[in-house]
Amino acid sequence: MERALIILKPDAVQRGLVGPILSRIEQRGLKLQGLKLMQVTEALARIHYGEHEGKPFFQGLVEYITSAPVVVAVVVGKAGTVEMIRTMVGATNPAKAAPGTIRGDFGVEIGRNLIHASDSPESGERETSIFFDDAELIQQWDRA
Ligand code: CMP
Repeated sequence: MERALIILKPDAVQRGLVGPILSRIEQRGLKLQGLKLMQVTEALARIHYGEHEGKPFFQGLVEYITSAPVVVAVVVGKAGTVEMIRTMVGATNPAKAAPGTIRGDFGVEIGRNLIHASDSPESGERETSIFFDDAELIQQWDRA
């Protein structure tokens, strides 16, 4: 099993794109293991985006992700799930993202790129543990 954390950022929530984006993931056949609407605190944002600390866009990124509610989800599937989601999400800069990808279909600005997705299985595990307690995650999909 492999899992990715996704964050539907404030622009996705404000534009009413939560349903369409989650639909793409569900229709692909991937499963949600956890899902919630939340307001990200500054402390959480700084931990999550720690690898970008020191970059010129870091402060703006933290301010943006904490500015309004987001939807966070854990997506699970077979090995290769993280890469599959990254392909569905598209390039970081929506202006360069291919049509058919989430960013390529819905966005134009790098600072308003709708969705974050873990970039490796290791990040998926790390980011899941930052945003979810074990009790919030469905453990027994096979019995559903
Ligand atoms: P995300 O996948 O959430 O991971 C880091 C985020 O930083 C990225 O999406 C963008 O929203 C943001 N980002 C990356 N590069 C830039 C940049 N050059 N200018 C502004 N924001 C950026």
